[in-house]
Amino acid sequence: MTQGIVDFDFSAMEEHVDPYPTYVAMRNAGRVLRSPIGTLMVHRYEDVRRTHGDHDAFSLGAIDMGAAAARRDGHEGGLASGDFLLAETMLTTDPPDHERLRRVVNRAFTPRSIDAIESRVREIARQLLAPLADGEAFDIVADFAAPLPTIVISELLGVPSEDANKFRVWSEAVTGTNVRARLNPETSRQYSAQLRLYLSEQIERRKEAPTDDLIGRMVVANSEQIMTDAEVVAACVLLLVAGNETTMRLITNMALALGRFPGELERLVENPDLIATGVEETLRYDSPVQMLFRACKQDTVVADAEIQKGQFVLTMLGAANRDPDAFVDPDTFDVGREENMHVALGHGIHYCLGAPLARRETRIAFEELLQMVPRFKVLTRDEDLRYPPTLMLRSPLSLVVQG
Ligand code: HEM
Repeated sequence: MTQGIVDFDFSAMEEHVDPYPTYVAMRNAGRVLRSPIGTLMVHRYEDVRRTHGDHDAFSLGAIDMGAAAARRDGHEGGLASGDFLLAETMLTTDPPDHERLRRVVNRAFTPRSIDAIESRVREIARQLLAPLADGEAFDIVADFAAPLPTIVISELLGVPSEDANKFRVWSEAVTGTNVRARLNPETSRQYSAQLRLYLSEQIERRKEAPTDDLIGRMVVANSEQIMTDAEVVAACVLLLVAGNETTMRLITNMALALGRFPGELERLVENPDLIATGVEETLRYDSPVQMLFRACKQDTVVADAEIQKGQFVLTMLGAANRDPDAFVDPDTFDVGREENMHVALGHGIHYCLGAPLARRETRIAFEELLQMVPRFKVLTRDEDLRYPPTLMLRSPLSLVVQG
């Protein structure tokens, strides 16, 4: 046994429906765990932050994404599925490339920029909810949580929102977590090829006729030799996937938690100002991204474990966000929680670029939803909840609610 590392068989981490008891078992086992195939894992808040905060020792740039997917959990697809990004993106690079790529689009995601689109986001939320206002039960995933972020990110990128639906299907294929059914790998590959072709056409068009949207901004960076053609396509795919799948899951998980804890729902109905802290609490309590990964770039120490160069480390954000050393009553869902420095949006240089957008979209989604169905009920029974077959992205595939 390497110093400080405890063997723990997490290779069959199948508790997608309820991973939280497994996290307690991990905590009891030790701070740095190793699966039978050699992958390491950290799960405590302090250790997850340490890993993400030290990009000299723990890198995404050093990872072969295809191999990473296979080592992670042996599933087809997943955020790291081989052909998802053909070129490097800010997410897959270390400095200085990371800054180069992130700087091109950074400005579009500052809280100030998001202020400018708030009324449009609200309008989209209202349009989606309008047909659902007749009191019939509806699937909050398919009818609201999935289309809202897709339309918003399509508009920010500058592609016609009529194409938003296609985008959703494509991006679900790319992440391997499609809402309705699992696609076979061949269809998945075809969809991601279609997505890349579509984006290449959008880019070419802007070379002829410049636009002021995100793709337009990247095309300018391309003409200034800041980004290559392939990097522009990969950045579009990243923004689509990162923005759609995650925000959809946050909205869904919040609806589920409020359905399970009607007292917390009542607090939001009585005091809508708490919706913002309720969004933070959902990010912590049932994180849309439960797990990330890094490759160790130089020998280092976490807790008292020696981690060697080349080792692959899973970081369990979902477990860290329930760490009793970091949060008071971590298993309690408290929409008014004050101290809430969760790691649901990552930590360090790769901290979520879209965090201000995701927070705003979700707050607006619930402001509008609670106007329409203030005391909604979740009709889907716990035993019928289905989750994607990977802990990378977590939320029920469908959730039927009624006012
Ligand atoms: C609830 C919604 C969201 C969650 C839970 C989430 C979560 C995360 C996490 C955990 C990371 C860190 C990845 C890592 O360190 O390996 C990340 C990075 C990122 N997110 Fe988000 N995200 C959300 C929404 C969005 C949105 C709406 C966008 C953009 C439209 C976005 C764009 C990105 C990008 C581009 C990165 C990479 C940043 C970098 O590498 O510098 N995300 N996100």
